[in-house]
Amino acid sequence: MQGKFIVLEGVEGAGKSTNLAFIQRWLSHRGFDVLTTREPGGTPIGEQIRTILLNPHNRTMCVDTEALLMFAARAQHVREKIKPALAQGQWVICDRFVDASYAYQGVARGMPFARLDALAEWTLQGFHAHMTFIFDLPPEVGMARVAARGEGKDRFELEDLSFFARVRQAYLDRAALAPARYAVIDAAQPLPEVQRQIERVLERLI
Ligand code: TMP
Repeated sequence: MQGKFIVLEGVEGAGKSTNLAFIQRWLSHRGFDVLTTREPGGTPIGEQIRTILLNPHNRTMCVDTEALLMFAARAQHVREKIKPALAQGQWVICDRFVDASYAYQGVARGMPFARLDALAEWTLQGFHAHMTFIFDLPPEVGMARVAARGEGKDRFELEDLSFFARVRQAYLDRAALAPARYAVIDAAQPLPEVQRQIERVLERLI
């Protein structure tokens, strides 16, 4: 039997990593074979592309390069890792996927959706997640969490609040277009409440 593909999205600092670990544990306890992965990245080639994309020294990267690299990593990821895992019955949980390209390169950077649609059609051919969680949070809260981590900022984290406000709104708009395939979670709530909401979605999915 095919496994299911679950994606987590949100602005930086929305709690994706914590909740990814929660979903992994929740499914594993119920006997599902779970694979976790991330974008950009997830394969040896994709992780090399990720290094280029996130390097804060690559200030001159134009939006076309950024989008093409995101989709290049994704093409490799879907073919080499995600689809084979699903075919073997594994559940795949991915930290970000194609919605991030629409939110960051499309809405926040202004790349026309028609170009992203063409790249998505080329690399994914209709393949999509069974469920995408959007962890929704005011960007100022997310950025404060990122700052509190005390790590160096990557190329995206150097953007200003208006950039992340556009990203946030883009995710909400994407979710509104296909509500059956998205779960918008208010990530500003206390963690136990966030996780109760995640559980309710997972119960419907299994
Ligand atoms: P992460 O730090 O959450 O792993 O994400 C890496 C960054 O890459 C994050 O700032 C969002 C960005 N990104 C895009 O701009 N487009 C995409 O398609 C993906 C997958 C990520």
